[in-house]
Amino acid sequence: MGNDLETLSIHLRLVTPDDSNDILTWRNDPLTRMNSETSHEISPQEHDQWLQKALQDPARFLLMAMTKEGKKIGFIHFKEENGKTTVSLNIAPQERGKKYSAHIIHEAIEKYQLERAHQPIIARIKKDNAVSTKSFLKAGFKLVEAGDQYDIFQWGEV
Ligand SMILES: CC(C)(COP(=O)(O)OP(=O)(O)OC[C@H]1O[C@@H](n2cnc3c(N)ncnc32)[C@H](O)[C@@H]1OP(=O)(O)O)[C@@H](O)C(=O)NCCC(=O)NCCS
Repeated sequence: MGNDLETLSIHLRLVTPDDSNDILTWRNDPLTRMNSETSHEISPQEHDQWLQKALQDPARFLLMAMTKEGKKIGFIHFKEENGKTTVSLNIAPQERGKKYSAHIIHEAIEKYQLERAHQPIIARIKKDNAVSTKSFLKAGFKLVEAGDQYDIFQWGEV
């Protein structure tokens, strides 16, 4: 897939509580809200409680994509439920459109499979989110279910 994260000088690490403000700011960005399952503005209290729980939840795996200079690029969230894992990605608004997304998705999945589970990985993408659809297809996902509001994509061979 062209240039990988190493060439782009990006690496992935686990999320820590210190990432809280960045993740909240990106989550409350208008485009992210529009493309999320719930679109209300999240308060700092609601977010802190959510992140604290998520970091302790064995069914979740949270990654931060970073440049080698230490700039945060994007948040990747894996959530295991009923034998499947759902992945979502939020690129920092100022870093969007720089063609990072497919590489980040691809390497985040490799890391998830190495460190956590081998089970079907899916992405639920709103039908009008063409940029996200492109990113996940480019990373190696395939459309497995077309719904009214969401399309479901699955990683790898299906
Ligand atoms: C969706 C998202 C993850 C994509 O990441 P990104 O870094 O902006 O996307 P990229 O720069 O890697 O571009 C992906 C593709 O979309 C195209 N693209 C990017 N921005 C675009 C835009 N504003 N309009 C049209 N096409 C666009 C790129 O050209 C690229 O396609 P190509 O490889 O065929 O040229 C990011 O925009 C984001 O975080 N959005 C808000 C949250 C969200 O929707 N998350 C996904 C929920 S599952």
